[in-house]
Amino acid sequence: MQRHIVGKVDELPPGERKIIQVGGKGGIGVFNVDGTFYALRNMCPHKGGPLCQGRLRPHVISDETYHVDFEREGEIIKCSWHQWEFDIKTGAALYDSRLRVKTYPVTIDGDEIILHLD
Ligand code: FES
Repeated sequence: MQRHIVGKVDELPPGERKIIQVGGKGGIGVFNVDGTFYALRNMCPHKGGPLCQGRLRPHVISDETYHVDFEREGEIIKCSWHQWEFDIKTGAALYDSRLRVKTYPVTIDGDEIILHLD
């Protein structure tokens, strides 16, 4: 497995992301979600849009008509091309968890964020 240094931990605070040009076309987006780092391929499985450049969103839930709640703030990425949403932690599409964007392991070594490629 290939290691790639993303940067220093303090350069990527919670709620931020960094897209790095490794791993093929589009690169890989590394996200800090509440202090834990996740990495997704920057290519939407729908039509190939730059998924990791989309808006960070909460998960919107509703258990009754005309009422919505928000949970898991900043854990959902919304593709800017056709608005499909994906769970940053798992890569799964919200509407169908069988559809996924590729994820990569991320670890911390000292003060550096390390991305592990296949
Ligand atoms: S390319 Fe991402 S939703 Fe269509």
